[in-house]
Amino acid sequence: MNIILLGPPGAGKGTQASQLEDERGMVQLSTGDMLRAAVAAGSEVGMRAKRVMEAGGLVSDAIVTGILSARLDEEDARAGFILDGYPRTTAQAGALDALLAEKGMRLDHVIELVVDEEALVERITGRFTCASCGEGYHDRFKQPAAEGVCDVCGSAEFARRPDDNAETVRTRMAEYRAKTEPILPHYEALGLVRHVDGMADIAEVNDAIETILDGKPRG
Ligand code: AP5
Ligand code: MG
Repeated sequence: MNIILLGPPGAGKGTQASQLEDERGMVQLSTGDMLRAAVAAGSEVGMRAKRVMEAGGLVSDAIVTGILSARLDEEDARAGFILDGYPRTTAQAGALDALLAEKGMRLDHVIELVVDEEALVERITGRFTCASCGEGYHDRFKQPAAEGVCDVCGSAEFARRPDDNAETVRTRMAEYRAKTEPILPHYEALGLVRHVDGMADIAEVNDAIETILDGKPRG
């Protein structure tokens, strides 16, 4: 099963994708994570992406499609993937159609997390991750069980994203509305879009997605 998780910054794409990885053995393909890894590695792609990401803009379609295409060629993607943060423009949606056709893959669902934008600023500014294993947390909504210690790996080092401030979040949301929302009709025309209430608790959102994935696969 191959799906796209769609939704504005802070909608819960990464949170839900990582739960689906654990529960179903699907692989999370987050272009944001891939770009952050390139920035951390200081590669040419990373150097070109860094400033754009920190300002809340979108990295060029060619760069992002290039890294996603290479990632789809890795063996684990054949077990089923969750696209988290791609496609984000109509050009990327077209490029994805071509990539999937070329690689003999197809999409089963496009799941839109429907959220209230005002609540997202709090979600994003409260977000932090384990610096060692990447597990995601939130100051209010998902604290580690023991304060200051990662539930998964026991590390005491945590990190916050440089683009997770109130000002940049507004730019990222505006980019989503202007460039990403317009891709929905393309998938609606293909009958692939399902809507999930992204304002519910993390576990309830997960249940709603699982119910969709457990439904009858496309003929
Ligand atoms: P990316 O990393 O994709 O960021 P984003 O789309 O802005 O989304 P986020 O990761 O901020 O949110 P999320 O939906 O994953 O939320 P999360 O689950 O963490 O992209 C970053 C940048 O990279 C872009 O701005 C762009 O520059 C570039 N880029 C990436 N892909 C690109 C592309 N295809 N083309 C061009 N440029 C690209 O949840 C947020 C917080 O809320 C967490 O703390 C979580 O614990 C909490 N939370 C989650 N769900 C709930 C819930 N139901 N209730 C309460 N709290 C919740
Ligand atoms: Mg994310």
